[in-house]
Amino acid sequence: MKAILKHPMLNGWRLFWLLSLPMCGFIVADLLQTDLSQGEGISHMIGYSVRWAVPFIYLVAAASSFQILFPGAVGMWWLRNRKFLGLCFAVGMAWQGLFIFVISTFYREYYFGEIYAFRDVLEGTIGYIFLAAMVVTSFKIGHKLVSSEQWKLIQKGGVYFLWAYPFSVYWWNIFYYPQLDPTREPRSIDYVFYVLGFAAFAMRIAAWGKRRHKKLSTPTPILMTAFGALFMLLGAVGSVTGHLWYDGAYAVLYGPAPSENASAWLPFWPLEPFLPLLSIGLGTWITTLRPETIIDNARSFPLSRPRGG
Ligand code: HEM
Repeated sequence: MKAILKHPMLNGWRLFWLLSLPMCGFIVADLLQTDLSQGEGISHMIGYSVRWAVPFIYLVAAASSFQILFPGAVGMWWLRNRKFLGLCFAVGMAWQGLFIFVISTFYREYYFGEIYAFRDVLEGTIGYIFLAAMVVTSFKIGHKLVSSEQWKLIQKGGVYFLWAYPFSVYWWNIFYYPQLDPTREPRSIDYVFYVLGFAAFAMRIAAWGKRRHKKLSTPTPILMTAFGALFMLLGAVGSVTGHLWYDGAYAVLYGPAPSENASAWLPFWPLEPFLPLLSIGLGTWITTLRPETIIDNARSFPLSRPRGG
């Protein structure tokens, strides 16, 4: 296995060409079969090209976590080639960008009638800005232009943002749109990409939890562990029952006026697709709390005032 994973064809730029050339081939083949005289055709190409890109951002998001959770040759290979997997994502997104440019320039009526929504465009544009910055700073020449903190912010922030975009698209496709319009049945690909996106982020939480757990000098009290496990269970159940809790969450989260206003322009707000993962993350945090911190906090906020004095 180690020898295979070290093969030059499966590493670096050769891996990039090995993955991105067939991707471009499939996109061009689909393009040739698509009726491009109508906006629908270009819109189809937008969706088709981005479906090639999505697995790569999930792979990038999960790379370091996989190595922390399962240290070994596969994790090393994955981590070593993360940049090239990211560049494959950028190739798929460049195709999507091209089709977006075509539809918004030459099919303006269709674009503004069928596609344009302010928040979607805002999210999409932020996504493309992140992507461009990530690509530029992944090369030495671009890396030199930013400080190491800025580099981390661009790369990490970009991965989170560009993971969040497709993950939320597939969440809406599965749990929300079919409720709104029963003819909009989720496609198999919606489930596949939702599960993969969920797994990629859940791995990040698990890896973070593993690191925190290692740092514990004494085990977290059993009550805290149980409390944390409850949140994790809640998140796991929530991740497959979005259609059941969406209405309730909507009423609570959109309720206050500032929240409703923010949802018009703040990307992903109020975060419905991410609530189960947030619950799992909270549970992980609680189960890996240092007992000393809990005791210190309890001392700083006593429940009853000391008598006398
Ligand atoms: C201003 C920028 C963007 C615009 C105008 C835009 C537009 C669109 C349109 C029109 C579709 C529907 C295609 C169809 O008919 O199937 C779509 C789908 C999609 N877009 Fe974007 N998009 C933008 C940016 C992004 C970014 C940054 C991402 C991040 C990865 C992204 C991810 C997706 C995904 C996952 C789908 C669903 C594809 C599918 O499975 O059908 N988009 N986009």
